[in-house]
Amino acid sequence: MRKSLMAAALAAACIVLTACGSRGTITVESEGEGSDLLRIARPAKYLLLPVEEACGEKRVTLVTGKPTDVAMDVRLAHDTVDYFVPFELPEGAEEAVVRVEGVAPDALFWERVALSDRFDRSNTDYYRPRYHHTPEYGWMNDPNGLVYKDGEYHLYYQYNPYGSKWGNMHWGHSVSRDLVHWEPLPPAIARDTMGQIFSGSAVVDENNDAGFGEDALIAFYTSAGSRQVQCMAYSTDNGRTFTKYEGNPVLTPFDGLRDFRDPKVFRYGPAQKWYMVVSAFREVRLYSSDDMKRWEYVGAFGDGYGAQPSMFECPDFVELPVDGDAGNRKWVMIANVNPGCMFGGSATEYFVGDFDGRNFVCESAPETAKWLDYGKDHYAAVCFSNTDRRTIAVPWMSNWQYANDIPTMHHRGANALPRELSLYTKDGETYVAADVVEEVRLLRGRSRQAGDMPVDGERMLPDLAEGFDGAFEIEMDVTPCSACRVGMELCNDAGEKAEIYLDMKAGRLVMDRTESGVVSFGRRSEEYADAAPDAPGPMDYVNDFALATWAPLSLCEGGTYHLDIFVDRCSVEIFVDGGRIAMTNLVFPTKPYGAVRLFAEGGAARFSDVTAYELKL
Ligand code: FRU
Repeated sequence: MRKSLMAAALAAACIVLTACGSRGTITVESEGEGSDLLRIARPAKYLLLPVEEACGEKRVTLVTGKPTDVAMDVRLAHDTVDYFVPFELPEGAEEAVVRVEGVAPDALFWERVALSDRFDRSNTDYYRPRYHHTPEYGWMNDPNGLVYKDGEYHLYYQYNPYGSKWGNMHWGHSVSRDLVHWEPLPPAIARDTMGQIFSGSAVVDENNDAGFGEDALIAFYTSAGSRQVQCMAYSTDNGRTFTKYEGNPVLTPFDGLRDFRDPKVFRYGPAQKWYMVVSAFREVRLYSSDDMKRWEYVGAFGDGYGAQPSMFECPDFVELPVDGDAGNRKWVMIANVNPGCMFGGSATEYFVGDFDGRNFVCESAPETAKWLDYGKDHYAAVCFSNTDRRTIAVPWMSNWQYANDIPTMHHRGANALPRELSLYTKDGETYVAADVVEEVRLLRGRSRQAGDMPVDGERMLPDLAEGFDGAFEIEMDVTPCSACRVGMELCNDAGEKAEIYLDMKAGRLVMDRTESGVVSFGRRSEEYADAAPDAPGPMDYVNDFALATWAPLSLCEGGTYHLDIFVDRCSVEIFVDGGRIAMTNLVFPTKPYGAVRLFAEGGAARFSDVTAYELKL
C-alpha cells in the first residue's frame, strides 16, 4: 500500500495522498533527491507528524519562500508510530506547503501523516509526575528565563515541540502564581535560521534601559548555530510573545571560543549596571552593560576551581545573607558541570566568595568542591530574577547520561521542586542550603501519622503512603543513637524499593535505587568508573542509572536529622535539615510505592513525628 502509493507518486510526480480531518487535502509532489513537497489545500490547524523514536531525524520545513524558513528535525516514522507531534500550519491560508526530506518511499509516514484541527495532549505516560512541572508533550531540559513579574513566575525551558528526544531547541513556557501549579502556554521563542535557542535568562527592564519599553521582559539566550553567540528578545505582553532584537547577536566571544553559552543577566546595584555571566568552557565570564545591548568584558572565574571534569554550563551568580544576617552577604557562583561529576554525568556545583564588581574571589581552597544537590538528577539549576528577598532555584530533574532514554514517550523531562537558597556556616566554610519552597505545602492532602517509635531491627509501616498514588511527602526526625545504619525503604508489592539511610560509620546520607524499579535503560559507562574508582558498598551499581548516591552528613549538625522526602511517580527528593543536604534522584517503580520499612542496624534508633502527606495539584 505504502510503496504503491509512493510509486504512483513518483510516476505521476504528484498524487493526492490523503484527505483527513475536517479540512484540507494533501498532494505530494516530488522534488527529486529524496525531497517531497506536501501541498495542503485549505489547511487544518495541524499536520500531525508520526514519530518513531528509533528513526534518524528528517528535515521538515514550512515553506513560505521567506528567508526565515527554517527546517525542523523530526524522527518521522518508518516502521512503527510511537506518537504524533503537531506541526502548525498557517491559519486561514488557501494553501500550505511543507517540505519533507529523506523520507523513504516505503516509510509508514506516508500512510499515517494526517491533518487535524486538534492535537490530543492527554497524558499517556505512566511515569508522568503528578505534581512536578513537565511539558504537556515533547522533550524538556534546562529551565530558562526564570523571572517573576506581576504576580507570575515564568518558567521557560529548553523544549523540543517535535519529539520527546533532544532537538529543535525552542523556549517552552509555563506560568505559575505559586511555584507549584503551572499553566502551560505556547512556546515563546522558536528555533530560527541563526540556530537553536539554547539556555538563558530573563529580566524585567523597569527603567527602560534597553529601550523596548518600561517593564519590558527581556530574554537572553544563546543562539547555537555554526557558533554560539548571545542574543536578546523582548516581550511587552508579560512574556507571552517575544520579538527577537534586530541587532542580534549582542555578544560574541572575543577569542572565537566554541562553547560560549547560557547567559544569565542580573542587575548589580553598586555599579548601577547590568551584568551577565556566561559559561565559557572551563570558566565563567563576566560582562557589564548599561543598555543590555553593548557588553563589556569584566573578568572571569573558574579555571582551576572545584571539580572540573569538564565544562561549566548554565552559570548563575547570586548574593545571599550568611546565616540570615542581612548585614553579612556573600556571592554564590553556580556552575552546572557535565559530564564526569561524582556519580557520573551531570551535577550542580557552587562557589562562595566576595565580589567587588570586577573580581569574584572564592573563599575556599581551589580544590574544594561544593554541590547544590547530591543526587544524580539535578542539573542546569538557575534562579529566578526579580524575586526580591527570596532566591529560588529550579533544577532540571535528569542527567545527560540517560535523559534521552528514560521510560516515557509522550513527554520526556521534568523539573525538580523549586528550592529556596540560603547560606549557613559550618566548620569555617560557607555552604548553600537548598530547601524546598514552602509553597509545596499547598499540595498537602490527606495525612497519615505513624508518630514516634524506637526501632531496633525493622518496623513495617505497610499503609503509610498506600492509596496516595505514588505522590506523597514523608517527614520525620531520625536519631541514630547507637545504630550504625538507620533509615527506610520505600516499597511496593512488586518487590521494588528505594532505600534511604544514614550510614553512621561512613558519615553519609545514602539513597540506593539499584532495585527501585525499571533501571535497564541505563548504560554502563566508563565515565562513572573513572569518576569514582573506589566506589564503596552502596555504589554497587549495574549501570549509569542503577546505583546509589551519597552526601556527607558533616554538612548537618548531627544528633537528630530532619528528613523531608518528596516522592512522585518517577522521583524521590530528599531534604535534610532544611536543605543542608538536598538529594534528587529519578526512580521508575512499576507500581507506586505505598509502604515504608523503617530499619536500624547495629543498635537501636529513634524515629519521631513520622508523617506521610498525600500530594495533589
Ligand atoms: C545544559 C545545556 C546548555 C545548553 C542546553 C542545550 O543542559 O547543554 O549548556 O544551552 O543544554 O539544550
